[in-house]
Amino acid sequence: MTDSLFPGVLSRRARSAELSPIAAAGARAAKLAAAGRSIIVLTSGEPDFDTPASIKAAAISALDQGKTKYTPTAGTAALRSAVADGYRERHGLDVDGANVIISNGGKQVIYLALNATLDEGDEVIVPAPYWPTFPDAVRINGGVPVIAHTRAEDGFKLTPQGLRDAITPRTKWLILNSPGNPTGAVYTAQELAALAQVLRDAPQVLVLWDEMYEEIWFGQPPAHLLRVAPDLIDRTLIVNGVSKAYAMTGWRVGWGTGPKPLIHVLEAVQSQVSSGPSSLGQAAALAALQGVADGFVETARQAYARRAQRVEDGLGSVPGLQVHAPQGSFFAWIGVGGLIGALRPDGRPIEHDGDVADWLLESEGVAIVRGAAYGLSPYLRLSFAASDTNIDAAIERIHRAVAALSAVTALEAAA
Ligand SMILES: Cc1ncc(COP(=O)(O)O)c(C=O)c1O
Repeated sequence: MTDSLFPGVLSRRARSAELSPIAAAGARAAKLAAAGRSIIVLTSGEPDFDTPASIKAAAISALDQGKTKYTPTAGTAALRSAVADGYRERHGLDVDGANVIISNGGKQVIYLALNATLDEGDEVIVPAPYWPTFPDAVRINGGVPVIAHTRAEDGFKLTPQGLRDAITPRTKWLILNSPGNPTGAVYTAQELAALAQVLRDAPQVLVLWDEMYEEIWFGQPPAHLLRVAPDLIDRTLIVNGVSKAYAMTGWRVGWGTGPKPLIHVLEAVQSQVSSGPSSLGQAAALAALQGVADGFVETARQAYARRAQRVEDGLGSVPGLQVHAPQGSFFAWIGVGGLIGALRPDGRPIEHDGDVADWLLESEGVAIVRGAAYGLSPYLRLSFAASDTNIDAAIERIHRAVAALSAVTALEAAA
């Protein structure tokens, strides 16, 4: 954020805050659509499905029962227990409701955790490509994001060596996100075991395990860090919520599960930030965890799997693009290195992934976020949280947009 609007007013922390690049890309697309262009938006980080009716019914019933007051700061006892029960049943974790804080989305849990633990200059290891909130939330809270670059040949996942190299005496947290936004990468049990081994030599490092896309996987369910390395339970904060699994982004309910002393501190910070999450949102989330919409979760997962395949098949044959098959989430991570240097019809060269994103939007009305927003170029993040019809139309348009680039046409001819 620049100082120009309010010269001398913004704090150093506020100056480090940026409007989400994903929201900015979406806003640009919306502006073009409002001007009458046909735009297909594949920038969104939220399910295109509506919240299941059974979950809405639980919120309506809570409203009718007058559950319209503040809830306890850390969330209702029923929801905290339901979250803990889930971890006990699915992963054998020794947790109860006091290990859980409910917040206004998983995003706020991350903010609270960093706010409660970072002193100026403390470091947080963030593997790149990353969800932009990770480094920004670190900066806003006075910390220093230490970006650990990953490689395509490692599936865009942090390696034990990469982790070892990033750890310093000032490291406070390691952030791991699996299934990952923006790449759809999922850490295997072996990979997690190897990272855990490195962490055992660095007992001061806390782990923020973000599993927001836990229910959206293709192939086999994702491995869980604390199942693989239960000894890390005393320094791991698990972040999850209802946004993605139950198509409930607007309800703003997420949670953190971690050591009781940490949860207690997050509760204290939350008490002065928001007094706690919405009572109705929590009632709806409780119904979701009680299973009223389990059929929906499975149907949505299958739809995402089908769409992931559609994107892989449809864009795999576009010269200059390399689709990295996602193993989870609803994002495809697409290498566009083969397009750098190509010329647009008016002679302007494609110099970076931002130019590719601009060209797709300009020429064919397809909105996709550039890789630079996630800390790695030259890539694009395509969200397939969109209808099959829109995905198919976008694939067709992307074929046309790339075919209109001169060098790529030459490359195709040479092939
Ligand atoms: C990796 C990751 N973690 C956490 C979140 C936070 O989700 P919410 O605040 O809606 O619970 C998101 C949302 O986009 C995400 O992509």
